[in-house]
Amino acid sequence: DKPQIGVIGMAVMGKNLALNIESRGYTVAIYNRTGSKTKAVATEHADKKLVPSYTIEDFVASLEKPRRILMMVKAGAGTDAVIKELLPLLDKGDVLIDGGNTFFKDTMRRNAELDKSGINFIGMGVSGGELGALQGPSLMPGGQKEAYDLVAPVLEQIAAKAEDGAPCVTYIGENGAGHYVKMVHNGIEYGDMELIAESYNILRQVLGLSVEEIADILKDWDQGELKSYLIEITADILTRKDDLGTDKPIVDVILDEAGNKGTGKWSSQDALEIGMPQSLITEAVYARYISALKPERMNASKVLSGPKPVEIPEADRKAIIEKIRQALYFSKIMSYAQGFEQMKMAAEQYNWELDFSKIAPIWRAGCIIRAQFLQEITSAYEKDPKLQNLLLDPYFTDIAMKYQAAVRDIVTLAVKNGVPTPVLSSAINYFDSYRAQVLPANIIQAQRDYFGAHTYKRNDREGIYHYTWYEEQ
Ligand code: 6PG
Repeated sequence: DKPQIGVIGMAVMGKNLALNIESRGYTVAIYNRTGSKTKAVATEHADKKLVPSYTIEDFVASLEKPRRILMMVKAGAGTDAVIKELLPLLDKGDVLIDGGNTFFKDTMRRNAELDKSGINFIGMGVSGGELGALQGPSLMPGGQKEAYDLVAPVLEQIAAKAEDGAPCVTYIGENGAGHYVKMVHNGIEYGDMELIAESYNILRQVLGLSVEEIADILKDWDQGELKSYLIEITADILTRKDDLGTDKPIVDVILDEAGNKGTGKWSSQDALEIGMPQSLITEAVYARYISALKPERMNASKVLSGPKPVEIPEADRKAIIEKIRQALYFSKIMSYAQGFEQMKMAAEQYNWELDFSKIAPIWRAGCIIRAQFLQEITSAYEKDPKLQNLLLDPYFTDIAMKYQAAVRDIVTLAVKNGVPTPVLSSAINYFDSYRAQVLPANIIQAQRDYFGAHTYKRNDREGIYHYTWYEEQ
């Protein structure tokens, strides 16, 4: 039978998604610019219903109509090049899906351009890494709703399933909405990763625990509120020894310079653009940047020293470890509160109708940030899809109130020890700012009015005011 769907791009994500789709009973056309890759996949999986093509024309011609094509190519110029080749070969009503980590504004542009030719274009966030692609990713598709409906049956079959059996895919919204939500997912991923790293650092540097001891603590945390993929893999990472035979834990030989491919940065950039605080994600991006200045840090460490470590009595350790756990959970909640606020503001500014009671549940499984507490977020938005801020849902209010003392203690302890906690600190600062009746923005307004006659509003009457700070010269 004719392939019901085709996949372009046979790097690991494309290949694994093609295999995932095939495993659900579909015949899948496959194509890669370099034919040898297509051939390798077809040969390795000769027993499967994969139909290789070696020209893009043959690939398009092989597909059932309306054609459904999933592009898994390197985001950026590569995507535009493939679209350009495809365009003359496609017909009205065909559906093109871009499953790359594409910048959402590129998706908005491509969606509008292709729409002129009657081609449906879906920008789809795909999360879960290589294994997720093969076994069940979390999918965040945005574009024409009619186009989504045409591919929904396939997407629902290949997506991860949450505990209640629901597939981790939903229609996110028009044009770039899916890629936007994936971008925020990745920003949150940066925040979660850095929070775990900071907690590890406090356990190691302040409490002086060994890597093995920390692995056990994380395993324990993974049984409770913090249960998540990232805690689980970090616990596992901490049990692994160097594979080059030094007998050290592998983390002790991995250079402390973090890389990135830019999606966390985009998340922060757009938060700045639309005017919504995204301080935890942004500090997590900065933490990677400052880590990358390793030679500079080595140099500075010879000149700049910190405080003498605080002695921690053996009897206090257990309580401090529990406080670190609470601080981590508290901070994670602040990060998600910001992430959802950002998506809410983006929906207004980019004209999307984002339904968080449908978006939160698709992060429960398949994706990198999958975690038990996404069920709590799901419940919060199911109760009130228009929830102003996650912190105002009773479950999250309660945790924030109960755990705030722990964050204050842990951040203080870390600061006293000279151990950096950029994201944990941002969490308590966001909490204290967000709940403040009065912020010192009155001073900012007075300063602006003083030097630039920028005017201000008053808190006791309507109108715009300017104060005569000095006589005109
Ligand atoms: C996912 C991930 C993935 C991302 C990597 C790399 O959801 O599966 O977000 O899409 O590409 O995590 O990100 P960095 O290289 O920027 O850390």
